[in-house]
Amino acid sequence: MAKGFTFLSETDTEVIVHLLEYYDKGNVKNAVMKTVSRLEGSYALGVICTDTPGKLYAVKEASPLILGVGAGESFFASDVTALVAYTKNAIYLDDGEFAELTPENITVFDRAGRKIEKIVTPVTWDIEAAEKGGYEHFMLKEIMEQPAAVRAAIEPRLRDGEVTIPELTLTDEELAGINKITITACGSAYYAGCAAKYALQALTGLPVETALASELRYSEPIIDSHTLLIAISQSGETADTIAAIKECKGRDARVLAIVNVVGSTIAKIADMTMYTYAGPEIAVATTKGYTTQLAALFMLAVAVGKRLGRADGEKCAALTGEIARLPRLIQNTIDMNHRIKALAKKYAASKSLFFIGRNTDWASALEGALKMKEISYIHAESYAAGELKHGTIALIEEGTPVIAVSCNERLFDKTASNIIEVKARGAKVLAIAVAGNRKIVSQADDVIYIPAVDTLFTPILAVIPMQLLAYYVAKENGCDIDKPKNLAKSVTVE
Ligand code: G6P
Repeated sequence: MAKGFTFLSETDTEVIVHLLEYYDKGNVKNAVMKTVSRLEGSYALGVICTDTPGKLYAVKEASPLILGVGAGESFFASDVTALVAYTKNAIYLDDGEFAELTPENITVFDRAGRKIEKIVTPVTWDIEAAEKGGYEHFMLKEIMEQPAAVRAAIEPRLRDGEVTIPELTLTDEELAGINKITITACGSAYYAGCAAKYALQALTGLPVETALASELRYSEPIIDSHTLLIAISQSGETADTIAAIKECKGRDARVLAIVNVVGSTIAKIADMTMYTYAGPEIAVATTKGYTTQLAALFMLAVAVGKRLGRADGEKCAALTGEIARLPRLIQNTIDMNHRIKALAKKYAASKSLFFIGRNTDWASALEGALKMKEISYIHAESYAAGELKHGTIALIEEGTPVIAVSCNERLFDKTASNIIEVKARGAKVLAIAVAGNRKIVSQADDVIYIPAVDTLFTPILAVIPMQLLAYYVAKENGCDIDKPKNLAKSVTVE
């Protein structure tokens, strides 16, 4: 401002534009270099100058930026899904690098302005995957794609009836030296960690803690070279998850990432990366991203349990058989679509919904409530069912909808008593239970059954009716399902 520039907004982006103009003495490349040398924090910029209309500059620091090499055209985007309609040849820029794009050429430079060679990586996703394909919303398409997506996550890791995770490159000695697993992530990816924690703990015999990335990074964590940090992220670009990984790497943790987007930042900074192969996920609210994360985590639990010799061989074989059945069981669950669509009418006018469950069911309830609030804007809360009496039950009144996830057979009677408690106060209860559970019919107003599967794996099925319920409630209420207000698909800022 002291140099006579007039600001029209209070955004940091505008500061960059003025700075570019300030440094532009007829050479845009130099102006870009000088400008970014003064920037702090994360950014991904595309710069065009009216004096050189056929040239674009792209530069990034900590935020994603991908270049697309076309025939007589060049592209840049923050996400590879934006490119697939135009080109399958991508260049992943690293921090501090910047590119000069003309229709014919892409030249990449390092921070000091020296030309560097970059590898052109083929994008394996096809254009159909990034289009709606007859569905009204990407979210519905992605829900329906879950059997195929989970199959894609599982198949490369099933060999002769055994789970193998080649990405887990720790030697037997290193694996035996691990004394704790810490799972970190944000949003639904965090809830995938919460749901898979039980399988990991049961099969590896190791203590497993879950920590929100935004909390872990500032928590002075007790983490060392004996910790296996599992970082989960669909996009691989979530700022807090990246920061939590860096914090834990600084404490010598071994980092295994579970990521969907190939070549993303988290995939690059982790020591080991398991891809989920879900294909592009466009809807802001994740569905197939979440279930493929669960599939990867369940397989990891079986593989680590087996390698450590802590999980019983027969149990591992049985669980591997269960994993192989998951795509079909997911399809069977999705086939109840029409029932859930009808039920959604009952819940669409609700002001507030409660999701309850215990153990694995609590984790499912957390994700179910998140789906509902993300896309329908209806207040939805999740509680561990046993905690109800410590406060939340005060909010239950005549007609309050309660979604009770009750798929964990061992705890069925406990959750049933919570259902009775809320019913006694007037709640209308929709239960999600495992096929064959007849007792629940007398307790709930409505029941949705998921197919029977090992209790440890029930979250991958239990979430599906809740995804569909959220979808149809949001649709009933005319919400912008794929792009809910105030939310972003990749949260690349803190
Ligand atoms: C955003 C998305 C969520 C996602 C979360 C973590 O909030 O809307 O669907 O679960 O970020 O994203 P990630 O890409 O790290 O899984």
